[in-house]
Amino acid sequence: MNIETLQTALQDLPLGGLRYLEEVGSTNDIALKWIEGEGRDFSLVIANSQSSGRGRNGRIWQTPPDSALALSLLLLPKSREKKNISLFTGLGALALVNTLTEKYALKAEIKWPNDVLVNGKKLAGILVESSWLGEEIQGIVLGIGINICKEAVPKNVDFPATSLEDALGKKVDRVEVLHGMLSKLIELRPLLGSGEMVAAWDANLAFRGKQVEVARGDGQVIHGKILGINPDGSLHLDTLASLHFGDVHLRPMRVSYSRKNE
Ligand code: ATP
Ligand code: BTN
Repeated sequence: MNIETLQTALQDLPLGGLRYLEEVGSTNDIALKWIEGEGRDFSLVIANSQSSGRGRNGRIWQTPPDSALALSLLLLPKSREKKNISLFTGLGALALVNTLTEKYALKAEIKWPNDVLVNGKKLAGILVESSWLGEEIQGIVLGIGINICKEAVPKNVDFPATSLEDALGKKVDRVEVLHGMLSKLIELRPLLGSGEMVAAWDANLAFRGKQVEVARGDGQVIHGKILGINPDGSLHLDTLASLHFGDVHLRPMRVSYSRKNE
């Protein structure tokens, strides 16, 4: 992957701008700075490796070289999108799930709120961050990390991980996955916040009907059966009305995982 191959492969897409970095701390940081530098809507930052890629709440997202997609899309939300910023996480996850189904006949599921699973293992994660000026949102960054080949799959993580090549049993062209994913995002974006979008998210939800435990940042653990996703993107458990985004970790029950550093 290099800037020339990316420019050629993505030339049919309406990108606002394109930056490729061989190595970076986090593509989300570059995209957040780009918002301040008046980056245009649907500009793409993509890196071959990240030295301090992050997940939610500062957790580490590993991106070794030549093995993954690490990208951040700069989005300048239109006024109707501003009410639904938190749903961009679901939109990103859905775009990847649909790409995997349509291009690779691969069934994937969304582990609410921000992970994409294949065969019950984590293939990708989404991290949405935003830039504000006072009360006014300036832009959002949709960060997506996808494990493409086995070198991308970290060993010491508390939830099993996989890669696209492991799941398919064949080589995959990273740039082809990227093109599919961006095309799907363009197609789905007008549906942000619609019943159709939430229904599609809901239809691809992992652990539906299963007992799960959700550990909250405040240390409280909630048990319940997943009933689905509410229209606002919150998780509907049978034991409480809904669970909103935030520092939550969702796990199926009867499986023991240990979390390190928490
Ligand atoms: P959890 O995955 O525990 O439910 P989470 O989804 O909130 O929590 P995130 O912040 O979304 O966690 O993801 C970061 C976590 O993903 C890290 O703590 C690490 O365990 C794991 N991880 C890091 N890099 C990768 C990778 N390349 N592939 C799969 N998992 C990874
Ligand atoms: C998660 O599972 O918590 C989300 C992981 C998001 C990783 C992507 S990789 C590209 C972008 N840059 C980052 O530092 N994080 C996101």
